This record gives sequence, C-alpha cells and structure tokens, in this order.
Amino acid sequence: MTDVAAIRSALLSWYDREARVLPWRTGPAAGAMGLRSDPYRVWLSEVMLQQTTVPHATPYFLAFTQRWPTVEALAAEQDGELMAAWAGLGYYARARNLLACARAVASQHGGEFPDTEDGLLALPGVGAYTAAAVAAIAFDRAANVVDGNVERVMARLFAVETPLPDAKPELKRLAAGLVTDQRPGDWAQALMDLGATVCKPKAPLCDRCPVETFCEARAKGAPETYPRRTKKADRPRRHGVAYVVSRRGETALVRRPDKGLLGGMLGLPTSDWRDRPWTDDEAARAAPILAPWRDLGAVEHVFTHFSLTLRVMVTEADVAGDFVWTPHEGLSALPSVFLKAARAGLERLV
Ligand code: ADE
Repeated sequence: MTDVAAIRSALLSWYDREARVLPWRTGPAAGAMGLRSDPYRVWLSEVMLQQTTVPHATPYFLAFTQRWPTVEALAAEQDGELMAAWAGLGYYARARNLLACARAVASQHGGEFPDTEDGLLALPGVGAYTAAAVAAIAFDRAANVVDGNVERVMARLFAVETPLPDAKPELKRLAAGLVTDQRPGDWAQALMDLGATVCKPKAPLCDRCPVETFCEARAKGAPETYPRRTKKADRPRRHGVAYVVSRRGETALVRRPDKGLLGGMLGLPTSDWRDRPWTDDEAARAAPILAPWRDLGAVEHVFTHFSLTLRVMVTEADVAGDFVWTPHEGLSALPSVFLKAARAGLERLV
C-alpha cells in the first residue's frame, strides 16, 4: 500500500525548506500566510514553461510582466509586438493562443481569470495541463498537475514498467492518488521542483531526495532507467537555404505565412525545406533576388519534429522587393533558427 500521507509529508516538508525562489511563485511561507500568486503571472509562466526550462523562460517572464503588468495590458497589445517579444521561446502558435486567451479574459471575464479548472479549460488556448496548473497554483484547487517532470517522478516512485507514451494515463492516475485538498498549489510545485532539481532525467540525486525511501525504482537499483521508453525513430532531417541580403546595416526579412511553422513571424527569405540537400544551382535559383551569392556553409537547428540543415547564402544588394528591411540590432527578435543564420551571414560581411 502506498503511504500517501508519509510521501506527501516528506515532500511538502522538503518544499518548505528548499522551494526554488522564482519570480512567478509565492513561496511556501508566504502561502501559509494566505498570500496567493497573481493568476495572470501563473498562467503566463506556465505557458512559457511548457516551452522551455526555468532559466531560459525567466528573462522572458520578467520582460513580459514589466511591459505588460496585467492581463488587460497584454490583451491590448498588437499581435506583431507580442510575436516579436516571444521570439526565441519557440512554437509561435503559443504566442497567438496567449493573446487570444488574454483578450478573452479581458473582454469576457472582466480581467479576472476563472478560478476553477473547468472555467480555465474553457478559455481559448488553455489545455488540460495549463488549466490544472493555474487552478492549483493560483487558486489552490485540488487539481492534478502532470507535466514531464511529474511523469518522471511517478514512473520512478512506482517503478512503472509501461514505456512512454503508453504509460501516460497510468502516470496520471498515480499522480492523482497523491493529490489532496491540502496545499495543492505547493504540492504541484514541490513535484516540479523535485523533478527539476533532484529527480533529474539522466542523473537523479537520490541521496538528496526527500522521498528516496518510498521510491520503488531506487529500491530496484536503477532509477535513471525510468520512465521506460519505446525507442524513438530519429528525427527526420530537412534541408533548406537561407538568404541574407544586406544593405547599409540592414537585412532583408520576409513575413512568414500565418499558417505553418513559425507562422506570422519575420524571418530570412528561404528556399523550401525538403528531404534532399540543395545543389549550388538549385540554391541560386531558389534565391529571392538575382545576385552574386556567397555560400557560407550551413547552420543546424533542431525543431520538435525534424532537424534542419540550413545553408546560408549572403549578398550585399540594395534592392526593391517585398522585404522588411531591418537594422542589425533588430535581428535579435528573430526566431532562433533565423538568428543563427543571420549571425553566420553578417559575421562574414563585416
Ligand atoms: N515548470 C513548469 N511549471 C513550473 C512552475 N510553476 N514552477 C517551477 N517549474 C515549473
């Protein structure tokens, strides 16, 4: 029998001592005094953190909340401004959903986030994970918050042999068995902190773990081998060419179509991204302008579903065309893949 009370007590006491200090978080001591986190900040942080790690998300979170301190401020922003601020966080559909959700909260809920999981789930762009996380962390609802960290902790604690992704429902059930209406926000965050700082994917620090004595994977001797996984096929590789057209300190960008990868973002002009590498002739023919191109080799970028080898071609030309000429300082707002290519191109021009 799982000793739910003992596991909870051990992990919550650890969280009371060791909780990470994070800018969106109300720590356990303040929480015990009845202080709650601002739902807007919790929601924003959770959307960002689905995308990336705490260290990468933190500067974005600080910049966003300084520029848009409330959900109404964010709701009033123009799409392009938000997309530019999101650049570097990846998966740009999330930035659109973010704005759609902020506008719904501002216009249909008087600027107040719904305080139940179901109410949150009804907002545009809010999925099961985000609804549970905001309900638990901002409103202390007994929601079952399960992300990759929590899945890993459950797989180890209960030595789940089913491989991911099939194990997901089982892991979710096991996590639900540990949730009670006592401190559900702290419980969710304690599990996240444990997963991030102790129960790490490759090298868990079991000697620092507050629930080590309950951990079945530890008892079996190889906790790092959980969660089990079915062997994944390698990511497919695609090939493309990016064109850096530069004139007097500016670079030519194009607005990408709304639908599809990096939809609506500014980017470098590129060829199609396809399975075969591009020959020199093909690369020249796919270029946005006729010019003497210099080939700078390739940069690599890994997307969720494929890896991209992007050849970088560069030229200096002052041409008309459907370009958004952008000063070099403005290129930092580009999605990472284009920033890499642009940097490679411009380094060689200056
Ligand atoms: N990862 C996802 N959500 C988090 C949170 N609220 N705190 C810490 N890490 C997280």
